[in-house]
Amino acid sequence: MKGGRKMPAVKRMGWILLIAMFLLGACSKTPENKVYREKGLVTGKPGMNVYPGKEPGETSPRDRPYAIAPPSVPHSVASLTINRETNECLDCHLEGMEVKEGHRATKVPPSHFRNDHTGETKTGEVVGLRYKCTQCHVPQADEEPPVPQMAR
Ligand code: HEC
Ligand code: HEC
Repeated sequence: MKGGRKMPAVKRMGWILLIAMFLLGACSKTPENKVYREKGLVTGKPGMNVYPGKEPGETSPRDRPYAIAPPSVPHSVASLTINRETNECLDCHLEGMEVKEGHRATKVPPSHFRNDHTGETKTGEVVGLRYKCTQCHVPQADEEPPVPQMAR
């Protein structure tokens, strides 16, 4: 008696490839946020996530959402460097430099010279925890929020 017919190796490979391609396709579909989709505001469309392009000294500080919130950055941060050697934010903000009349970089507050977790304090330079400014201070895209702000 002969055994059951085996699928030729080439045909089998073909099937495996086809299934793999199907699975890959299914995984790579990014789920879009329902609210954004309903409002036609799918991320990536032109007009979404337009960050402020104005240079420091050409903007004004924004309202803060609550008392101890880190203020958002009103000016462009696109060409500013923060690395081990350089922190361009501090060049202006450490001492509160007046860039031009009526446009002073808000001075880094006392809280940034103290690490409340370890008790470490520094004078003249911020503690490590506060070195990467853009970790907490972010620019805001000039967009209408798709859902109203509900926080009080
Ligand atoms: C050339 C000087 C300069 C540099 C560099 C600079 N800023 Fe500013 N920044 C300003 C000025 C001036 C203002 C006030 C608004 C204005 O006049 O544009 C300001 C405003 C701000 C504010 C709002 C402060 C408030 O009171 O609400 C934040 C936050 C801020 N900058 C963060 C940063 C961060 C983070 C960096 C680095 C990525 C940076 N800035 C680099 C000059 C500077
Ligand atoms: C871990 C988060 C964090 C980091 C990192 C951080 N900040 Fe802040 N920053 C805050 C918070 C929160 C506030 C508001 C409360 C306060 O004043 O401490 C603030 C306030 C400020 C203000 C407003 C001061 C005022 O008088 O109203 C300035 C200016 C500022 N930060 C600049 C900087 C700069 C420049 C850096 C980088 C060297 C930096 N911050 C890094 C969280 C952070």
